[in-house]
Formats: sequence, C-alpha cells, structure tokens
Amino acid sequence: MSLDAAILTALRLPKTGAVSGAELSQKLGVSRAAIWARVEELRSLGYDIEASPHLGYRLVSVPDVLHADDLHSRLPGVKVVGRDIRVFQETTSTNDVVEKLARDGVKEGVVVFAESQTRGRGRLGRKWISPEKRGLWFSVLLRPNLRPQAATQLTVAAATALARAISTQTNLSPEIKWPNDILIKGKKVAGILTELSAELDQVKYLILGIGVDVNLNASEFPPEVRKLATSLKIEAGRTINRAELAAAVLEELDTDYARICAGQFETLADEWEERCTTIGHNVVIRVGDRSIQGRAESLDSDGALLIRTQHGRLERIIGGDVSVEK
Ligand code: BTN
Repeated sequence: MSLDAAILTALRLPKTGAVSGAELSQKLGVSRAAIWARVEELRSLGYDIEASPHLGYRLVSVPDVLHADDLHSRLPGVKVVGRDIRVFQETTSTNDVVEKLARDGVKEGVVVFAESQTRGRGRLGRKWISPEKRGLWFSVLLRPNLRPQAATQLTVAAATALARAISTQTNLSPEIKWPNDILIKGKKVAGILTELSAELDQVKYLILGIGVDVNLNASEFPPEVRKLATSLKIEAGRTINRAELAAAVLEELDTDYARICAGQFETLADEWEERCTTIGHNVVIRVGDRSIQGRAESLDSDGALLIRTQHGRLERIIGGDVSVEK
C-alpha cells in the first residue's frame, strides 16, 4: 500500500476525532515531515484534511474524484479484485486498456477506472455513453480456472455484487434483468460487458466491463434512451459518493469471485435468482436472427438461462436480448 493510501486508511479509522502526526509517523514508519508533505499533496487534490497542533489530522471531506490510493485505503481486506487499481482521466474503453494488460501478462484482479471514456461500448456493439465524473466506468481482469462455457458464472457474480452494493449504498432496490442489466423500477442503471479469451477447454482471461450511471441528470442521457435509462442520483434524489460505491462493488465482487473459485456458484445463483425479474416470467429472447419464446425457469450450473418453450422443451441460453412479457 502506498503512503498516501496508508495515511487515508489511518485517517478513516477514528469515526470522530483526529490522529496525531506522531502517531501516524510511528504507525507508518516515516518522519512527521514526510507525513506533512503527503497531507499537503492530498490537500492539493481536494482532500479537506484539518491539521490542529493539539489534536493532529482529521479527514473532513473527500473530493468527487476517483483516486487509486483513496480506493485502496477503502479496501484493506480484498484478496484478488482491486489489489491493483489504476485510474485514467480519459480512455477509449477501459475494456481495451485491460485487454492490453492481460496480453502483457498482468496478474488477475487489476481494476482500471476511467473518469470518462471516448469509445465506451455496451453489448451487441451498442455505444455506452460515459460522461466525465458522472458514473463508474471500469473493467476488471480475471483469470478463472473455468471452461469457456462456464464464463457466464462471472457475469452472474458481477450482477449480484453490483446489485448488493447499490442496495447497501443507496437504499434503492435494484433488480437484475438477465444476463447483465441492473434496473431500478424497470429502468436500466448499470450494465456489464463480459469479454473473454479462451482455449477450447479453458478460459485464458476474462474482462468484466462495468458501467454504472451514478450521478447523471436526465438531460445527460441521449434522447433515444431517456425512457429506458436512469441514474442512481435520479432515483435516490441525492448525489451518490462514487468512490464509496466503487469500493463497495469491488469488495462484493472480490467475495463473489472467491465463492466461484471455491466451486460455490450455487449459493450465488440462489441470490441472483431472488433479485432477478426475468425468472418466472414469459420472455422472448433474441439470439442473432433467432427468437426464442418461453418461460424463464432458472440458471443452470454454468450460469446459462433455462427457458421452457411452448413445446415443453428446455432450452439453454448463454446470451441474447431479453424482453419480459408483462
Ligand atoms: C451493456 O449493458 O451493454 C454493457 C455496458 C458496459 C459498459 C462498461 S463501462 C466500462 C467498460 N468499458 C466499456 O467500453 N464498456 C464497459
């Protein structure tokens, strides 16, 4: 952990009150002058850190920026997801950045955030708008020991982690629409783009690209999606702290990834089914030129959706565009 991350972690520990320079210096093994210099640097980034000669340092407020050290300081316990965090001011697509890291052999768990994306993309070649500092636009590199057919397990994990984090951070009630949409009151608020590189029987690496519309105003959505999309700010009626939400999502994803690695996908699938609005409904799924109609029954052990068609056959679907019949 960097010195800045360690300072922020220490300043977060006392819920009220402050930490003295001497205590920080002893705890972190650096001089008081070095602490002071880093505090000044954090202040220049917008962190409001009060310094009193008697009490020491107190973290008063943090700016609305994504900062790798800050995110690290919020995630002291993660094992894999988020142990390496990189933040860019602007990228084409964070999935592209992570793909390059994957090809360069970087370890799994690295997370790349961008404050804005110029060529953010969604599923099925759709464009994903990613305005500066309005959302969370990030990608996670994983190297799971799975067959390519089971890769959907990770989309399921990401959707469950995302829904859980949104619910605890905002008190809203997110629903999952198979396979990868998070909705609030029927409107999309987040999506997941899973891309993978695989051999015939083994995933080489997998990239989870996650986009959350956090603080967008209605006018910031393109007119054609305004009826279908929303943001957490619109639904909660208040601005949401992006760094807090980002840390919560990564923490949940780290937990769910550990469950998948331990072969416990079933527990995750149960939670997913509870939050999913697709299960138990009649749906139409478009897969390429094909359209499949039936009742969504459950997930199978690989994370594929099982549809009972009108003819009583059980179809296994791993991707497509779902509409739920009301
Ligand atoms: C979808 O719902 O179609 C998936 C949207 C995924 C968007 C995210 S934003 C971060 C990452 N980078 C991209 O270009 N796309 C994903």
